[in-house]
Amino acid sequence: METRNSNPMFGPNRFKLGVFSANCDGGLTMSLAPERWQARWDDIVAMCRLADDAGMEFILPVAKWRGYQGKANVYGKSYETMTHGAAIGALTKRICIFSTIHVPLVTPAFAAKAMATIDHITHGRAGLNIVCGWNQEEFDLHGVTIDQDTRYEHGLEWWKIWAKLLQGGPEFDWDGKYFHLKRLQTDPVSVQRPRPMVMSAGFSPKGRDFAAQAADALFTNMTELDQAASMLTNVARYTAPYDRTLPVYAMSHVVCRPTQREAEEFFHYFAEEMADNDGQKYYRRNRGATVGTGNAVIARPFENRFTRATGKKFDGAYPGSYPFVGTPDDIAAEMARMSAAGLAGTSVAFLDYLHEIPYFIQEILPRLERMGLRGPNNVVASEGEK
Ligand SMILES: Cc1cc2nc3c(=O)[nH]c(=O)nc-3n(C[C@H](O)[C@H](O)[C@H](O)COP(=O)(O)O)c2cc1C
Repeated sequence: METRNSNPMFGPNRFKLGVFSANCDGGLTMSLAPERWQARWDDIVAMCRLADDAGMEFILPVAKWRGYQGKANVYGKSYETMTHGAAIGALTKRICIFSTIHVPLVTPAFAAKAMATIDHITHGRAGLNIVCGWNQEEFDLHGVTIDQDTRYEHGLEWWKIWAKLLQGGPEFDWDGKYFHLKRLQTDPVSVQRPRPMVMSAGFSPKGRDFAAQAADALFTNMTELDQAASMLTNVARYTAPYDRTLPVYAMSHVVCRPTQREAEEFFHYFAEEMADNDGQKYYRRNRGATVGTGNAVIARPFENRFTRATGKKFDGAYPGSYPFVGTPDDIAAEMARMSAAGLAGTSVAFLDYLHEIPYFIQEILPRLERMGLRGPNNVVASEGEK
């Protein structure tokens, strides 16, 4: 029986919104701009509470073990995501808190217990981002080798054990291809039944096939709206054999200002003039090692995008991140187009999350509400919630 009533990822809003990557310095912005996010713990908490109070759906942290080098070394400082999830979960009331786990680094039984713990702390608001790994330099720190061919097959077996543990029931042994485990059980099981919600950002063919089987939501990269149709068709091809559909989310950066010119000039300033080009090179070099060949036809994550005012080309805040750059009216209308194109929502990131999110909440959310894409922010905390 599925009971996930407390998790807003299963809630009624047609276009769901969450904050991505605020647990790391730099956030989702490869820039040397001094205003860049420093990821101070108290700022992270304050920002998550604003998102929670505003009725946004999720907080999605990234799991990182090494920075992207370059001058900014984005991600050089990052908070571990399960402990982050437990803490932020205790400090919020209704938002879904994802934890991002690199499955080769954590056993399914450890993850089942940790996720059940967060699910109890949050009264059913935990989410799991399953990541099978792409950056060998991060894994070297753990002495673990990423096997490009089998990483998602291994991840799927991991997910099956994790999910079975959280279903509860008698002890069981597991004798699979990658795991040989004895007397598996966990207590408590999760509040969400049959398990906490799972997301994946698998992009390669094997990653998509994994998501089609294991995930409740798929996050992906697109940098232009015209990529949405082919991307959704592609995802549907993977989910059809399993008789499933998947809500698909984009990953975005927001620069919202009273005028288009201000927004574009600021975006140009931190993403072009102050771009951390060495960090971008590091990302592309290492990411290139794992990104599957099918990606080019699904999206153009590394393609340059230009601002309308300057006409100059630049990489943007982060490769593959959709840039919402403009006035509240522009951005709300663009989100409505993203929704009409079939997307379930998007993650957002800001150069400085804490200082920029209030304007986003104040200006964009009411517009989306008026457009019928989101309900009023009047969700009453369910029984048992603080
Ligand atoms: C929204 C989003 C969140 C992600 N979070 C992480 C993360 O925290 N850690 C990580 O190593 N990779 C992360 N990834 C990378 C994906 O898990 C995946 O490896 C990537 O999209 C490439 O797909 P592929 O693995 O199928 O080649 C994320 C990707 C997206 C789009």
